Amino acid sequence: MSQAEASLQGLSCLADYAQRASELLPAATWAYVNAGAADGITQRRNAAAFEQRMLWPRVLRRITEGNTELELFGKRYAHPIFIAPTAFHALAHADAERATAIAAAALQAVYVVSTQASVSLEDVAAAAPSPRWFQLYWQADKDVNLALLRRAEAAGYEAIVMTVDAPIQGNRNAEQRSGFSLPASIKPVNLLPYADKLQTPGVLEAGQSLFQHPLVTQMANWDDVAWLVKQTTLPVLVKGILHPADAQLAVQAGAAGVIVSNHGGRVLDSVPATLEVLPLVVAAVGPHVPVLVDGGIQRGTDVLKALALGAKAVLIGRPVLHGLAVAGATGVAHILHLLRTELESSMVLSGVGSLEDIDSSLLWQGSNT
Ligand code: FNR
Ligand code: LAC
Repeated sequence: MSQAEASLQGLSCLADYAQRASELLPAATWAYVNAGAADGITQRRNAAAFEQRMLWPRVLRRITEGNTELELFGKRYAHPIFIAPTAFHALAHADAERATAIAAAALQAVYVVSTQASVSLEDVAAAAPSPRWFQLYWQADKDVNLALLRRAEAAGYEAIVMTVDAPIQGNRNAEQRSGFSLPASIKPVNLLPYADKLQTPGVLEAGQSLFQHPLVTQMANWDDVAWLVKQTTLPVLVKGILHPADAQLAVQAGAAGVIVSNHGGRVLDSVPATLEVLPLVVAAVGPHVPVLVDGGIQRGTDVLKALALGAKAVLIGRPVLHGLAVAGATGVAHILHLLRTELESSMVLSGVGSLEDIDSSLLWQGSNT
């Protein structure tokens, strides 16, 4: 048995990876990677919403040419399990985002690379030919957004994801208690060339109001989404949508798709689960605008439930960091493989052979509690 295989022993689902990662990572890093904001109400609710939804399978249907393929923005993808943008993969493994890219390429998963990656977006692209999208954290200086956009286009990124739910940090109490701070060797390298133009969080003095802080007074608005859309021919998705009215505003601003997300419960605590608001957002934008979702996905059955409620694809955040922490690229590839295999088996056991066949009739319509 190879060392890599040995390290995967006993890991049969994503929860096993979370457990193993919690044992391997320093406590403060674990707090950064895994905790939700404040009391963790939203983080738990994301998971609970999947538990409360039940499937209502059909049997004895003929499935001869089953697959998990989908088409998005004119491109075909092998399956609907994408890698959510998460910051600083170097915290979890020395190979960092390069390892994630290698796993994504091997498992044909779309990898959404974070603005706050610990490896430059060009180096991530060079590491492996995975399908890749770039996640943009809006910067008050428009030239910085433009520079990042042009770099992403040049490096072969196929879509831009503008994250809008975290203009300021959430109330990260678990992180604060753990004393987490980013090691000096790990940096948001994509942003370093523009360091003199960035708004940094800074510390509020006693008595100073957040409302005077440039992060708030210069944060993005809908005009900025429209501006970004006009700068590129790539599809722009808005990530961090919970309200159907905001989904409609995103579409009006020219977004090609929306990502229903509460940032995995890391920003504003006490918001609903993404699975709860997903069908409202899907109804608001109509059948022609793809809606993706993330938050709390742990199982193939979770993916199936999200697709049944109208999502075109799902993204996973923390599980990828767990995979990295446990076994680098091999770990990420394994969690993608586990989740995709679980999706396929739950499709077969529900009587559906393609994503087009998945709709709300696959969900138990009785009491969901
Ligand atoms: C995130 N997330 C995030 N989102 C984003 O748009 N840009 C980013 O840089 C980050 N960074 C980040 C770091 C860490 C450690 C986590 C856990 C999450 C949010 C991420 O894209 C996604 O919305 C959630 O992680 C989805 O929830 P699950 O799958 O982690 O439950
Ligand atoms: C986070 C920021 C980087 O969730 O999005 O940690």
